[in-house]
Formats: sequence, structure tokens, C-alpha cells
Amino acid sequence: MPTTGSISFSFTEFDSTGELSSGDRELVLSAREAAVNAYAPYSGFSVGAAVLLESGKIINGANVENAAFPSGICAERNAMANAVSNHPGDHVIAIAVAAFTNDSLTDEPVTPCGTCRQVIAEEEFRSGKQIRIILAGRTKIRVVESISALLPMQFNRDYLGATLP
Ligand code: THU
Repeated sequence: MPTTGSISFSFTEFDSTGELSSGDRELVLSAREAAVNAYAPYSGFSVGAAVLLESGKIINGANVENAAFPSGICAERNAMANAVSNHPGDHVIAIAVAAFTNDSLTDEPVTPCGTCRQVIAEEEFRSGKQIRIILAGRTKIRVVESISALLPMQFNRDYLGATLP
């Protein structure tokens, strides 16, 4: 007999950065600042991401596009790769994302693409620490406490059956 199931997730929504904790607000402001350095001549969609490490350090990233379109990379992956490669052992505990179209902040929160979700999931899984994700639009900010909310049934190292560091 087949069985059915469902997966649900919780999020918190805010109307403005003024409603956020000071830590989350600082991270969102960092993400907005990071978007200024985006190289997005093809899409005109400038994204900034700010990663918070356990030590309190904030590492930024922006999207960097390429004339060979698939060679471009998202803001979230740039920030995550920068954090992981330059601050080994300092676990990622939060990431904020913001985006601009035509120099205006998007009203709606921007949400990471599938590949970026997988990259965030890898860090959460290996550190065992939930990564708070703050998706910051101008008039709506949505917060989830773990990548599991955005990427249920995720593929992880357990499937490989290998013993890894
Ligand atoms: N992009 C990001 O950097 N992050 C997202 O969350 C969504 C999309 C970038 C990729 C590309 O440079 C541009 O936005 C349009 O898709």
C-alpha cells in the first residue's frame, strides 16, 4: 500500500529592517552593500550576500556574470566559497541575501537558486549547525532557521557511504 506524507516549514516575515534584531539588520545591510559590487551587465539583476561566521565576522559576495552565461556565479555561492576557503573552521551560522533591479531594491525577498541551496546545505550538514537564512526584500523580509526549509529531502554525504572529515 502506498503511503502519503507531507513536509512543511516555518518562516518569519518582517515588513522592514527596523523590525529585525540588530544582528540580522547588520547582515542585511551588508548584503545590500555587497550588491553594489555585482558584475551583472547581462541580467541587470545585482545580488549581494552576507555570510555571518561563528566568530562574528561577516563575509560578503556578489553575483559575477560572464559573456559565456553558465560561467557566471551567484552572490550566495561567492560569499559561501569565500567564507569557507578563507576562514576554515569558523562555521557559517547565517546568510542574508538582497537584490537590486535597475538600482532599486526588489520589494519581494530574493531566494537562492537550487545550486546555492545545495552549497548552503553542505555547510550546514558538515558543521552540524543550522544556518539562518534572511531573504531581504524592501517591503518584505523572510527568515528561515535552516536550509532544510528551502531544500527538503536534500542529498548529502551520507548517501556516499564514505567516511569523510
Ligand atoms: N542570482 C544570484 O546571484 N542569486 C540568487 O539568489 C538568484 C540569482 C544571480 C545570477 C545571475 O547573475 C542573476 O542573478 C540573474 O539570474
